[in-house]
Amino acid sequence: MAAMETAHTQHGNVHVIKSRVDHLWTKIRNVETSPQDFRRYARRLMTVIVEEGLALMQPRSVCVSTPVPECTYNGTEIVDTSSIVAVSIIRAGDALLDVFMDICPDCVAGKILIQRNEETATAQLYYSRLPSLVDKHVVLCDPMLATGGSAIVAIRVLIEKGVQPHQITFLNVVACPEGLANIMEAFPDLTIVTGCVDQGLNSTKYIVPGLGDYGDRFFGTVGV
Ligand code: PRP
Ligand code: URA
Repeated sequence: MAAMETAHTQHGNVHVIKSRVDHLWTKIRNVETSPQDFRRYARRLMTVIVEEGLALMQPRSVCVSTPVPECTYNGTEIVDTSSIVAVSIIRAGDALLDVFMDICPDCVAGKILIQRNEETATAQLYYSRLPSLVDKHVVLCDPMLATGGSAIVAIRVLIEKGVQPHQITFLNVVACPEGLANIMEAFPDLTIVTGCVDQGLNSTKYIVPGLGDYGDRFFGTVGV
C-alpha cells in the first residue's frame, strides 16, 4: 500500500517535511529491518524532522558576513533554543526527545507518560513531570499520530500548565488523516511538523502502511 501523495505539502498549521529521504523511510518501514538498524535509520530521519521543525520556529532574517572579503549572506535565525521546553510522550516519544536534545542541548525537558490501551486504542494518562512553561515554546515529541488520542491528552496536560496551543509545536514522524483531523479540530492553533501523512488507520487503529509499533521497534521489544 502506498503512502498518501502529500509528502511535500503544507495544510494550514500542518507541515510535512520537504527533505527527500525515501531511503530512510524504506529502512524503517521494512519489517525485515533489525532493531539496531531501525534505531539507526530512525534517528537519522528524526534529525531531519527536528531540523525542519526548528526552521519554522519564529524565523527572522539576518545578514552575516562570510569569510570571503566583502561578501555577505542573507540568512535566517530562529527562536533562542534555551527558551524551548521539549516534552516527550513516553515511551516512543523519548526517542524523538533524545534527538531533539542532541540538537538543542540548552533546552529543558519534560515527560508525560501516556499509554494506548491495546484493546480499545484509547489513551490513558499515568504521569507527568514538567518544568514551568511560562513564556516558553513547547515542543511535544511523539513519533506516531494514529487516532490522535495520546497527543490530545498530552496537549490538555500542557494547557493545564499554562501554555497556549499556539505556543506548541508537535513533532511527529508518521501521521494519518484521521489523527490530523482529530487533533486540529481540538487545537486549531497548534503547529504540527510531521515526516509524512500515511493513508489511514486499520481496524486495530494502526497506521497503514505505517511501520508497526514505533516504541517496540525502536526499543527492540517486538514480540517480547
Ligand atoms: C504509541 C505512539 C503514540 C500513540 C499513538 O504509543 O507512540 O503515543 O501510540 O496512537 P494514538 O494517536 O492513537 O493515541 P503507545 O501507547 O503504543 O506506547 P509506546 O510508546 O510505549 O509504544
Ligand atoms: N502506535 C504506533 O506505534 N504505531 C501505530 O501504527 C499506531 C500507534
